[in-house]
Amino acid sequence: QAIYSAGLAGRRPAIPVAHTALAAEAERRLSAPAHGYIAGGASGETTLAANRAAFGAWHIVPRMLTDIAHRDTGVSLFGHRYPQPFMLAPIGALELAHHEADVGAARAAAAAGIPAILSSQASRPMEACTAAMDAVAPGAPRWFQLYWPKSDALAESLIARAEACGCDALVVTLDTPLLGWRPRDLELGHLPFLRGQGLAQYTHDPVFRSMLADTPADSNRPPITPRLLANVLACARHYPGSTWRALTRGHGLAAVRQFVATYSRPDLTWADLAWLRERTRLPIVLKGVLSSTDAQHAVAAGIDGLIVSNHGGRQVDGAIASLDALIDIRAAAPDLTLILDSGVRTGADIVKALALGADAVAIGRPYAYALALAGATGVAEWIANTAADFELTMALAGARSVEEIRAGGVELRSGRR
Ligand code: FNR
Repeated sequence: QAIYSAGLAGRRPAIPVAHTALAAEAERRLSAPAHGYIAGGASGETTLAANRAAFGAWHIVPRMLTDIAHRDTGVSLFGHRYPQPFMLAPIGALELAHHEADVGAARAAAAAGIPAILSSQASRPMEACTAAMDAVAPGAPRWFQLYWPKSDALAESLIARAEACGCDALVVTLDTPLLGWRPRDLELGHLPFLRGQGLAQYTHDPVFRSMLADTPADSNRPPITPRLLANVLACARHYPGSTWRALTRGHGLAAVRQFVATYSRPDLTWADLAWLRERTRLPIVLKGVLSSTDAQHAVAAGIDGLIVSNHGGRQVDGAIASLDALIDIRAAAPDLTLILDSGVRTGADIVKALALGADAVAIGRPYAYALALAGATGVAEWIANTAADFELTMALAGARSVEEIRAGGVELRSGRR
């Protein structure tokens, strides 16, 4: 209602309302490498497309005369009540989109009371984001996303900082021990982390800084081995030595080198989760799980929830659409908290995800586009639009609350039959 009234009063929106228009406008305004990095997917981008197609294959069967006069869009997750069933997915290197970067997105989430999942690859340290959030709304919900690094001391330090920042949950992303094969980045010769972008959590970390102090600042050549990150090497080939030096000067080549050497532990197995479980009392949410067998491993490891995700189609091309994976995982783990991401764009998508077993959803690229167009104002507007779209779609489908949708209150029909 408020959105329609503002329109009638002649207030111009800061961002396009429809997702397709928002994405098109962001493409026009962003540099080609920044847009390619944000919009792109892995390899043939078939999973990127499959995520959307999976939502298109389900249809809502709306019910009439169900008394939808009073509505509640809130959800309870890990003992907290949040006003909407969607949150901001972690996105690295947001300064590519806008100078307000993570701080702008976090402030908009705080104003709306929805969780912002702060990325390990953020452009601003988590302390800057959470201070800005507390200035908007003290104690506003925030989660931290961890890329589990090689160094145990660095992992412990990042977790301790997330706890000190008042995070409500620790999200551990499992699907990125190596960066996926991303043609757009390779063609445009662009990978933000090689430019020192998105390293703020590390360069502000006392343990990472002590590792840096031990690194000899001797060479201008990137210390990237093919075995470590094959596609990082392919990307680096696009930079002649002098360009590489110019790019990394000012960002600290040593930090880039140390980051590449330390950021992931490809040798992790399910057995390692016991170590993590002992180190934090925060709820642990594993991000990037697509298999119901893995969901059962997670339950056995005492994990609190999953983000069912294929990283927005950026890691395994040809991977199952996350909505299809959700259905299998919900059947295998009826009581586990499940958040779905990858491909959620509209209120109807959120309704469908909830009806198919998600407790909530996370959304990535759309808020990055809103940030690109209008900073925190754009993200706030995008959150308000998405909340209104969801509430209207839920009510017009015949349900009053997320709990009702989850309990079978919205009938879906599969168009694939
Ligand atoms: C991501 N994603 C991501 N995930 C994560 O755990 N840590 C990160 O730093 C990032 N960085 C990142 C950057 C960009 C530009 C994108 C598009 C995505 C994945 C993200 O959290 C989420 O899984 C997907 O974005 C969800 O898909 P949609 O909503 O973008 O389709």
